[in-house]
Amino acid sequence: MYDFIDLHCHILSGIDDGAKDTEMMTRMLDIAYSDGIKTICLTPHFKIYRFNDAEEISKYNQDIQKAYELACCYAKNTYPDMTLLLGNEIMYHNDMFDSLVSSKCHTISTTSYVLVEFPPHISSFDLKNATSKLLRKGFHPIIAHVERYNALLNSHSLLKELKESGAIIQINSNSITRFKFGKVARFIRKALKNKLVDIVCTDSHNDTSFPPTLSKAYRKVCKRYGNDYSKKIFHDNQFMIINNKH
Ligand SMILES: [Fe+2]
Repeated sequence: MYDFIDLHCHILSGIDDGAKDTEMMTRMLDIAYSDGIKTICLTPHFKIYRFNDAEEISKYNQDIQKAYELACCYAKNTYPDMTLLLGNEIMYHNDMFDSLVSSKCHTISTTSYVLVEFPPHISSFDLKNATSKLLRKGFHPIIAHVERYNALLNSHSLLKELKESGAIIQINSNSITRFKFGKVARFIRKALKNKLVDIVCTDSHNDTSFPPTLSKAYRKVCKRYGNDYSKKIFHDNQFMIINNKH
């Protein structure tokens, strides 16, 4: 058996809408570890419109660094075989390239992979445009929780097109386990069946309703789509990403 790798979660305390305090952060790390997740990239939100100036961004990044050090200290003392990495989940904006180059926001653990989210109603044109712009600039976009965008829910050919253009397709583990009927469930089933999903992550925000777990979704995917594909989207592709391989 291999360990899981989670590349999208909000475990750092007091930063965004994730863990509220240090106690919740440590409980979330406990849950992740006992679920078999031994490598985690912590990805606090970065939404540029929330900042008034460069000073606020710098303060935000300092807070992230402090919370990250605290999390690393806990992990090192409690789970010596756990690895914590740092990145961001970046809300796409036109100056995203400049923000990345000037270190206002960050890729996944200093690789060329960038976890990017979009507003739910983004058009297919804007999705394609943003993806190709990032690729042209030398980044590898990981499109966060693809099951949230109407343009993709309505078009599997667009999902396929984005994947073929070089985007990494990410879905949330709790979307696999939670949705049993309806549009999102059908979308996820079809995406998994056609092997369009590249990575499954927790996108965890707390220790109760949105905990950092992958094992339940993993078992479901194994049962329906086979062990080989499951290993790829719960471990192998994530391993390639954190090692900056393509
Ligand atoms: Fe997220």
